[in-house]
Amino acid sequence: MIATGQEAAAHGEDVTSLVLIPHLAENLKIPVIAAGGFADGRGIAAALALGAEGVAMGTRLMTTKESPLHENYKKLTQEKDVYDTLFSKRFDGILCRVMKTDAAKRAIKSGLNWPAAFFNSQDIARQMNLPYVKLFFGVLASGYSSAKQLAYLANAFKAIRIATEDGDSKTGILPVGQSQGLIHDVPTIAELFERIVKEAKAAQAKVNAALD
Ligand SMILES: Cc1cc2nc3c(=O)[nH]c(=O)nc-3n(C[C@H](O)[C@H](O)[C@H](O)COP(=O)(O)O)c2cc1C
Repeated sequence: MIATGQEAAAHGEDVTSLVLIPHLAENLKIPVIAAGGFADGRGIAAALALGAEGVAMGTRLMTTKESPLHENYKKLTQEKDVYDTLFSKRFDGILCRVMKTDAAKRAIKSGLNWPAAFFNSQDIARQMNLPYVKLFFGVLASGYSSAKQLAYLANAFKAIRIATEDGDSKTGILPVGQSQGLIHDVPTIAELFERIVKEAKAAQAKVNAALD
């Protein structure tokens, strides 16, 4: 089970990792993997101490040399603080955490843009090799709330693609976690993991010393 705390990029739980991980570890008989807010060895040591068997990282791995994310956003991630995210239903229709940019503020302020969704869903139909008419009537038949959710998603997919592939922060929008404020470099995955293990061991030694 992946326990995704409130700090996470995109769709985190209502509670933070600090409470969610021990809660799930206590109540589930299957291994819990911690996600949401983990970007360095201190966090990994903490997640393991809270009862997780492993950790999944999104925001940290997004900002590595091997990550296909556009360089503009790797740079922006390092500039942004822990406070520079927005959490709203008005980006993809469900509560979602994204990087605080002018484009994200605008999207959240204006809410669902139906005409844009009409055109963006045509792109999706093309990418999926689906006849648009079939997709359109299928969505209509699914009822208003489902059609509204799919319209949000059509616009969100486009905004994410513009951010991740084109690197355009004027119209693109990127899901990002609060841990962006803990990220100050773009290492290779090998460098990152080597450092994380060292940091986790140092954190463990610090905790042991404090408890002795
Ligand atoms: C660029 C990016 C895109 C993501 N897109 C989605 C998504 O479409 N749906 C989803 O449920 N989670 C998405 N996530 C969230 C991750 O799956 C993961 O739960 C999250 O990144 C963990 O928290 P962290 O970012 O604090 O490490 C995305 C994360 C990032 C960084």
